[in-house]
Amino acid sequence: MKKIIANFKMNKTPSQIKQYLIDLMARYKDGDKVELGLSIPYPSLPIAKFLIGERKIKLGAQNLSDEEVGKNTGEVSGEMLKDVGVNYVIIGHSERRKKFKEDNKTINNKIKMALKNGLEIILCVGESLSEYNTLKTKDVLTEQLESAFKGLYENELENITVAYEPIWAIGTGKTPSAREIEKASKVIRSVIKEDFSAKASENLQILYGGSINAKNISQFKNLKYSNGFLVGGACLDLAEFLQIINVFI
Ligand code: PGA
Repeated sequence: MKKIIANFKMNKTPSQIKQYLIDLMARYKDGDKVELGLSIPYPSLPIAKFLIGERKIKLGAQNLSDEEVGKNTGEVSGEMLKDVGVNYVIIGHSERRKKFKEDNKTINNKIKMALKNGLEIILCVGESLSEYNTLKTKDVLTEQLESAFKGLYENELENITVAYEPIWAIGTGKTPSAREIEKASKVIRSVIKEDFSAKASENLQILYGGSINAKNISQFKNLKYSNGFLVGGACLDLAEFLQIINVFI
């Protein structure tokens, strides 16, 4: 089963999401080949939950607070997301790390908050262009993973998917080669094996994200060490997103 997760980022109003979902559900059939997840902006979550109903489409948020409740104007808690019917939350996206100054400690706290509230997690990790050029990908991934997973129990990893998203590939039209993605996925698995166990490493779900589109998806169709894709820009156009999904059906 391939996991295909859409990341809408800060795009589409609730009315537009409503129409998108109506169209998507008319054209996409639940099956056992693809696990589909839609990470949409907060205001659209309730209408999306209502429209998805009993369909096997997972509903995701793109962030949550690292605190539980109270004096945090503008923030949204894990408990609120759970109550709305959200299944999973993206944590550590590079846009949040960079623009909103989320450091590894904050990301670790957010993961714990999501787990506490019974939310699944998509944890994003990835190197910058200069780190890529100076062959630091392995070091960066190791550091990001080890700090994100600090204090977690092995069984909690069952609720976490790791998305390898090289920063230089996000929204740029550039991607690593299939071999480079495989190599990064192996690094991710080896960190988990070292810090937890061989079983946790084998069971870990890994996605690739960064400039995936309908034109290049077939290049990455047969990746062995990763389990799916996190799709940003290309999910916004439903026809293109369906083309990506259909490669796996
Ligand atoms: P992109 O974004 O597909 O537009 O490159 C991916 C992401 O940021 O998750």
